[in-house]
Amino acid sequence: MLKSFLEGLDGLTLECNARRGQACSLKDLEALRVDLLGRKGKLAAAMGALAKMGPEDKPAAGKKANEVKAALTAMLEARQADLENAAAGDSLGGFDPSLPGRRPAVGSLHPITLAMQEICEVLTGLGFEVVSGPEVENDWHNFEALNMPPDHPARDMQDTLYISDRVLLRTHTSPLQVRTMLSRKPPVAVIAPGKVYRRDSDLTHTPMFHQIEGLLVDKHVSMGDLRGTLTAFVRQLFGEKTDVRFRPSFFPFTEPSAEVDISCCMCGGAGHISGEPCRVCKRTGWVEILGCGMVDPNVYRAVGYDPESVTGFAFGLGVERVAMLKYGIGDLRMLFENDVRFLEQFS
Ligand code: PHE
Repeated sequence: MLKSFLEGLDGLTLECNARRGQACSLKDLEALRVDLLGRKGKLAAAMGALAKMGPEDKPAAGKKANEVKAALTAMLEARQADLENAAAGDSLGGFDPSLPGRRPAVGSLHPITLAMQEICEVLTGLGFEVVSGPEVENDWHNFEALNMPPDHPARDMQDTLYISDRVLLRTHTSPLQVRTMLSRKPPVAVIAPGKVYRRDSDLTHTPMFHQIEGLLVDKHVSMGDLRGTLTAFVRQLFGEKTDVRFRPSFFPFTEPSAEVDISCCMCGGAGHISGEPCRVCKRTGWVEILGCGMVDPNVYRAVGYDPESVTGFAFGLGVERVAMLKYGIGDLRMLFENDVRFLEQFS
């Protein structure tokens, strides 16, 4: 008799454990409680048998009955707490405030933007002021005022993207020289960062790229000032140890003109890296980064400056080239593919 009594109580524990999971509302759970623990419930029915037991069995049976009652109560209470928590979650529209938050995706500045900022920082530090102008230009600002009349052969140097006969996408930032001098009296010292466009697209050219123009006009400005300014600029940007070399060149709007090379920061000017030829400087140890020169008197005439009383210099710098050298980017295309795995490295 005792054995079947105890087995019956164990069965009740198992039943309670199985059925409480199926109770999906507090109402279901209450019905289950009444069925098991209520006055006419299954535990109460089992207790009826206890009354009829002999004194030798009663203590063990009573102890077991109390344990089972406590166990059932605890199980039902745990389920009740679960159901109440879920209900609270529903009232927050399914939002679970206990979950960890989602990390917001934080972007990083594009290497071209970074390079632009660094270049402008150095040049404003040297006293230049930042100006800007339109990317859609007319022929006069982009070419003619820069000493390139319509039939000038130098126009072939630049594959122009035309919008109409005399309107085009600027092929360089040099029209900002013209716009600055038209709107200001000397002395001027400005830089103009921005996008420029050419009909050119291959491994080392993109149809849109970035330049920074510089212009300084005053009395008695010399080629020595140009050299000193650009050398100081380049060394601040690439490091004090950077070698600088000025090569004679030609631009219609400057005379004399030069191109500036710096010692290759990839191979340190050696032309090779551990026996392999350097891809960046193509073994020469030098990389060209800008064009420059003394402003041509014809440009002063076009903008109404007196070429007899002022002199000055101008320079135009390729930003992509600077970014590639500074950040060790081996392939121009990486700057335009916008692969986040690449861009993330600049945060
Ligand atoms: N505008 C020239 C270019 O795009 C660069 C340059 C600017 C050269 C100013 C001399 C002076 O190549």
